[in-house]
Amino acid sequence: MRSILQCMDCGRQYPIDAVMYTCDSCGGLLDVEHDLDALKGVATRALFDSRLGTMAAPYNSGVWRYKELIAPYADDDAIISRPEGNTNLYNAPRLAQWAGIKQLYLKHEGENPTGSFKDRGMTGGVTHAKRIGMTRVACASTGNTSASLAAYAAYGGLRGIVLFQNKQIALGKLAQAIAYGATCLRIAADFDKNLALVRELSERLNIYVLNSVNPFRLEGQKAIMFETLQQLRWQAPDWIVVPGGNLGNSSAFGKGLRELFKLGLIDRMPSIAIIQAEGANPLYQAFTRGFDKLEPMHADTLATAIKIGNPVNYPKAVRSVLTTEGVVEQVTDQEIMTAKALVDGTGIGCEPASGASLAGLKKLVDEGTIKPHETVVAVLTGHVLKDPEATLDYHAGRLEHIHAEHPNVILDVEPTVEAIAAALGA
Ligand code: F0G
Repeated sequence: MRSILQCMDCGRQYPIDAVMYTCDSCGGLLDVEHDLDALKGVATRALFDSRLGTMAAPYNSGVWRYKELIAPYADDDAIISRPEGNTNLYNAPRLAQWAGIKQLYLKHEGENPTGSFKDRGMTGGVTHAKRIGMTRVACASTGNTSASLAAYAAYGGLRGIVLFQNKQIALGKLAQAIAYGATCLRIAADFDKNLALVRELSERLNIYVLNSVNPFRLEGQKAIMFETLQQLRWQAPDWIVVPGGNLGNSSAFGKGLRELFKLGLIDRMPSIAIIQAEGANPLYQAFTRGFDKLEPMHADTLATAIKIGNPVNYPKAVRSVLTTEGVVEQVTDQEIMTAKALVDGTGIGCEPASGASLAGLKKLVDEGTIKPHETVVAVLTGHVLKDPEATLDYHAGRLEHIHAEHPNVILDVEPTVEAIAAALGA
């Protein structure tokens, strides 16, 4: 069974172990392509269901359970896995009602080992890095990728290098990268500039890039869709709603869903709705112009994870929208923080960027794009503890230009039973 690298634009093929991220001929983004014809009858619902509950590595991972569709060529014992995935799919009736639909599930990717969906891609990327003999791996990051890279590099015995913006990195993410021992470079440049820097640096110093321009990252992230569909007993929902920053996740989702459909594991395609923050919305802008072209922008949003103005996976995300008859929507920081407070208030919790999923869902329902009877899976991408400052500032009413609609204000109380009882209104 052969897997290859293939340019998404000109179709040129390269060996799977080539160290490259874009096509040598035309500069297009590369896909990892597996031999789907040979996988028919092999990668089946029955096979994947038979691995549920196993304790045997690597199949105990919610990524490697689907190994035939991720890296069929990899030796089992060469896989670097924490293990990741196996995240919950929550039924969320109260939030469904708020958004105006009957059936809403929240797929909580913040429940991965380092608290974000990035671990699914990182197990794919770091496993591949080791396989091809790389010793140093690097990324630019708004925070979560660096936390994940740092953890997986350390776990796999590789040197991790991460480039941060010198401001607006959420505390939880920064602390993780430092704790896991990556070399942390703080640079006076935004994510987009840092990504350009890391790509140049990697060529000069032979360092392997583990941003989502790396197609092996996206192979791992496809498993978010595989696992969601398996949790839904392979019955496709109408919509998948996901926040969009560098557009790796939405690109991976489209690829994963196409593969499930081609293999007959699902009998219809859900539509993908990608939600961007209004201040970081280049995909949305392009969508409103019929995807004429990407116009890079200076990005600004409180949802720092998706503060990206020049998303590297733009062409793949466009492909995801077009092949799933999907849409792109934008939401304000106010809408993001209100939705986050609601997700938090149900006891599930998420980081600000994930609030975009619920906020975007509501907007799409209000506009009539998503119908009340349709079934929706909204993806929560990061854990509530990733950005404690955003949460505390919201509830204390300290966020500039944000009205806290659902504040939970800390009560300062004297150390007496009377005072406490009075504070409780009892
Ligand atoms: N949600 C969270 C919590 C993220 O960390 C990211 C991306 C996204 C959504 C957007 O996903 O890039 O695949 O469209 N964070 C990256 C990082 C860019 O560096 O951690 P995307």
